Amino acid sequence: MSKKILVTGGAGYIGSHTTVELQNAGYEVIIADNLSNSDPQVIDGITRITGKKPHFELIDCNDRAGMQAIFEKYQGIEGIIHFAASKAVGESVQKPLLYYRNNLVSLLNILELMPLYGVKGIVFSSSCTVYGQPDILPVDENAPIKPALSPYGNTKQICEEIINDSIHSGAPYRAILLRYFNPIGAHPSAEIGELPLGVPQNLIPYLTQTAMGIRPELSVFGNDYNTPDGSCIRDYISVVDLAKAHVIAMQRMINKLSDNAIETFNLGTGRGVSVLELIEAFERATGVKVPHKIVGRREGDIEQVWANPYRANNILGWTAHETLDDTLASAWRWQVRLRERGIM
Ligand code: UD1
Repeated sequence: MSKKILVTGGAGYIGSHTTVELQNAGYEVIIADNLSNSDPQVIDGITRITGKKPHFELIDCNDRAGMQAIFEKYQGIEGIIHFAASKAVGESVQKPLLYYRNNLVSLLNILELMPLYGVKGIVFSSSCTVYGQPDILPVDENAPIKPALSPYGNTKQICEEIINDSIHSGAPYRAILLRYFNPIGAHPSAEIGELPLGVPQNLIPYLTQTAMGIRPELSVFGNDYNTPDGSCIRDYISVVDLAKAHVIAMQRMINKLSDNAIETFNLGTGRGVSVLELIEAFERATGVKVPHKIVGRREGDIEQVWANPYRANNILGWTAHETLDDTLASAWRWQVRLRERGIM
């Protein structure tokens, strides 16, 4: 019998790609999602790719009784991947309490329920935002956690602390904290991808929408940073590569392959790419021009950050394989598919 994994936020961008990889690896996936930032059609996309429909439960993870009902219904859930969270940095500054409630309460509910149902482990969706602007680049997992620049960033730090404290108190489960750098791109089938509601805040959806003519031009936030071309540097990682790391992390926990009850891994490529380089790479990979202009810096932006993924490479045996050009081409194919479907 295949092992059951609960994926909160499984209809979202990273959650849907991870569900595909889990199903491809033979797991039975139960998605718990309130569809607050995703579309139910995602489930059809997952089904078309894998030939298997994941279980789907429409639920807000803050609803403890509702979550408990899921554990009752699907007896024997072995692991949880917790993606469900609010993630817009700017919005979190406007609505901090909403962010603290959504991101903290849902985690508390899950951690309290796990021991009651014998769940072996949780993979937590964290972010390189916990490092702030690192003093040393590339940044590894031992780098100090810097004061958060937004309530969103703070929720990621607090959630990591909650999981740490819980494990150290002797909780009967394991945890793996995955700190993502900048996930981009889409599944190569273009059946699933990033679907931001409203005006995108993140670079890639804004860029692909501009290339499609939905937006007149892309604003490059600053060219006066202390970087070779003056624009910010990030570590852009294929969402499919990222999704695969979750499967490895889950196997590691369920099979108790580590001596440690809690582990933290950076998930990045190890390569820093500037905003201007990224635009150039997109144009090269797709042959489509991206009208853009330089504007002022965006408040709260970090100048440059990229991963030292050594620990994930060596301990998880995971490496980001996709090239930047292929990943950008997949983001474009997804945008084209959205147009074909009349969605955008
Ligand atoms: C941010 C968060 C990160 C979060 C992620 C997902 C911080 C410091 N980072 O990442 O924690 O997980 O969003 O929501 O809080 N840019 C432009 N023009 C645009 C949009 C972006 O030039 O229209 C630039 C930004 O200045 C940045 C880069 O593109 O240098 C990437 O931006 P974005 O995609 O928003 O991601 P981060 O800010 O790195």
